[in-house]
Amino acid sequence: MSVRLLEVSGLSKRFGGVVALKNVDGHSVAGETLGMIGPNGSGKTTFVNMVSGHIRPDSGTLGFAGIDIAGSTPHQLAEIGLCRTYQAVRVFSALPVRQNIDNARLLLSHRGLDSAELGELTEWLRLDTRLDVDAGSLTLFEQRRLELLMRLVLKPRLIMLDEPVGGLAVTEVTEMIQLLKELRARCSIFVIEHTMRVIRELADRVMVLIAGEKVADGPPADILRNKRVIDEYLGTRHA
Ligand SMILES: Nc1ncnc2c1ncn2[C@@H]1O[C@H](COP(=O)(O)OP(=O)(O)OP(=O)(O)O)[C@@H](O)[C@H]1O
Ligand SMILES: [Mg+2]
Repeated sequence: MSVRLLEVSGLSKRFGGVVALKNVDGHSVAGETLGMIGPNGSGKTTFVNMVSGHIRPDSGTLGFAGIDIAGSTPHQLAEIGLCRTYQAVRVFSALPVRQNIDNARLLLSHRGLDSAELGELTEWLRLDTRLDVDAGSLTLFEQRRLELLMRLVLKPRLIMLDEPVGGLAVTEVTEMIQLLKELRARCSIFVIEHTMRVIRELADRVMVLIAGEKVADGPPADILRNKRVIDEYLGTRHA
């Protein structure tokens, strides 16, 4: 039987007069790569912000691996294996890569990586030659890889990625997709993207948000042919 990781129901959030999310249900299972797509402002980042403990929902339930995580802090969630990256990459720009990694490891009180595991991850993300460079001097692609490393040192069971190829050049997108394919062997993935290559090549299933509501949930091949998704999202982007 498949093990449920994420379990969300009736999630709603308003910012003043803006309804960012309206009664959204969703789940993910262990081993799955779950995609999320939808127009700008449709509530995707808000969804991740609530699941990852950055903002409180107005209503709804949040579960992870059978645990009620409502009100949990990002730190507490890291401890149980849930973490996220940011749409606008967040690293400590003024600190060397090495120090960024050390800071990230401090978040965890147990299950730390040993140095061989850390070395392997650092090489895999091709940051082993960049350890003494300030993170702010890295390219965006390198910063995105560093942010990924800063979460993977927490040994997540589920990592939530908010537009991991945002701002990258086409060849870098191809490389990132390859890395994320390899990442699937390490943990379950939730990925928000506007780049449909990422969704087509990586996602086992896709949730679609439009104006804060979940309008579809299914295999990418079906979702990318869905009339409403094309009319209200995909079609408008290429018009
Ligand atoms: N902290 C906030 N305060 C006020 N309004 C917010 C806040 N965060 C999000 N919103 C609003 O909520 C709505 C959903 O925003 P959200 O960032 O979740 O969209 P998104 O789907 O991630 O969009 P994008 O694809 O552009 O990243 C938008 O109207 C946005 O302006
Ligand atoms: Mg967003």
